[in-house]
Amino acid sequence: MYKLSFIGLGPVGLCTAVCFAKKGFTVIGSEMDEAKARQIRSVKPPFYEPNLKELLHEVIKNGNLKIVTSNEAAVMKSDITFITVGTPSNRDGSINLQHVTRASEEIGRALRKKKAAQLIAVKSTVTSGTTLDIVIPTLEKNSGKKCGNGFLLCVNPEFLSEGNAINGTFNPDYIVIGGYNEKSAKPLETLYKDFHGENLPPIVKTNIPTAELIKYVNNTFLATKVSLINTIANICEKTPGADVTKVAEAIGKDHRINPYFLNAGLGWGGSCFPKDLKAFIAYSKKLGYNPTLIQAAYKTNQDQVKFAIQKVKDELKTPKRKRIAILGLAFKPNTDDIREARSLKIVSQLLKQGAAVTAYDPMAISNVKKILKKRIRYASSAVECLKNADCAILVTEWDEFKKLKPEEFTENMRRPILVDGRRIYDPEKFSKKLRYIAVGLGEPLKPQP
Ligand code: UDX
Repeated sequence: MYKLSFIGLGPVGLCTAVCFAKKGFTVIGSEMDEAKARQIRSVKPPFYEPNLKELLHEVIKNGNLKIVTSNEAAVMKSDITFITVGTPSNRDGSINLQHVTRASEEIGRALRKKKAAQLIAVKSTVTSGTTLDIVIPTLEKNSGKKCGNGFLLCVNPEFLSEGNAINGTFNPDYIVIGGYNEKSAKPLETLYKDFHGENLPPIVKTNIPTAELIKYVNNTFLATKVSLINTIANICEKTPGADVTKVAEAIGKDHRINPYFLNAGLGWGGSCFPKDLKAFIAYSKKLGYNPTLIQAAYKTNQDQVKFAIQKVKDELKTPKRKRIAILGLAFKPNTDDIREARSLKIVSQLLKQGAAVTAYDPMAISNVKKILKKRIRYASSAVECLKNADCAILVTEWDEFKKLKPEEFTENMRRPILVDGRRIYDPEKFSKKLRYIAVGLGEPLKPQP
């Protein structure tokens, strides 16, 4: 079995490393942030991900996963090195490659000392051209070796979804291998055959630029699909009697559309969609092509949070001096991640307009406290959050919010007004008991004679 190393232990690097170690592979994870490396070694994952802590405990204890702070050590003791460092945005939205470049330099220097031909696999999300124009030349310069012979190289993007990262690594829909040459692609194919056994998903083999592109196209497609259903939601909302959830339920039955990523809401956030769409737009413009559809999907998403603010204004005239309860802060359920979370945009608008905000989230409060500090109040339960509120906005569809009954709103709020930003409640049941406003829900039809 191949020995593996992962350079960079963010969500992608750590979760993938842990999954390979769980399947019995010898894995070395390299994290240059010493505090973070220590944390991981002592089985305290730096972020929440279902099942991660349990698996990390197992693979650290049985020695399958070792954590180091030296990229050189990681390369020297492995056969395949995955680059899993972050690719943040520059101010203009374009991709920032400083971590990828630095990792390539360090890996290159280690390769110089190594006899065997290491396989380097780029898992970080990078725009087309990055690997051929930056990663390979940097590796060649620092190692003194030629790609395809002195070392092998593949682009192998990941499609991990936060909150489902472990399950997603064990059961991906497909695998992409963009090999420099056949000699480079072969070991990665063997590795995934060993990893997945009988459950091997389809493997798409292609060249390097296409592999890089696939990752962006996958994210762009999904984000655009959500922006489209959000556009439909806004039209439904102005159509008496219309309901976007029924529209989505119906069109989702067309196998060409499918039911996934058709949940209308307050828009998408997280570490990938916003960053990757911006980078893809910047990349396309640099090539001299204006990707108007992708730009529209992005703009639609930016505008979508306005729904919540407008509804507060419609109901309360102004948010000024009103108590607003925010249910959910994480960018989606089952994570403590608040990067690009819609909650932060909504709260900042409400604060700007003079509202008093109380928020509750099962997991993300400590992360939000680091940003918003004492500018809002933090509740320790959903019910406490609702106490004396003039309006509640459901921002993240955590399971525990789905269990709330209309009475919990009516008995605790000063004015029982609920803005359902994720369509988790039954309009019929809730409308009877309180003022219920929801994304993509038109005003009720007048009873037919
Ligand atoms: C995404 C991609 O799914 C994953 O393949 C890629 O590797 C990284 O980016 P992630 O950001 O973890 O994963 O979350 P995802 O479940 O895709 O949701 C992204 C955003 O879209 C969330 O804010 C979510 O609330 C929103 N969303 C998703 C909707 O508003 N409606 C939907 O129907 C689906």
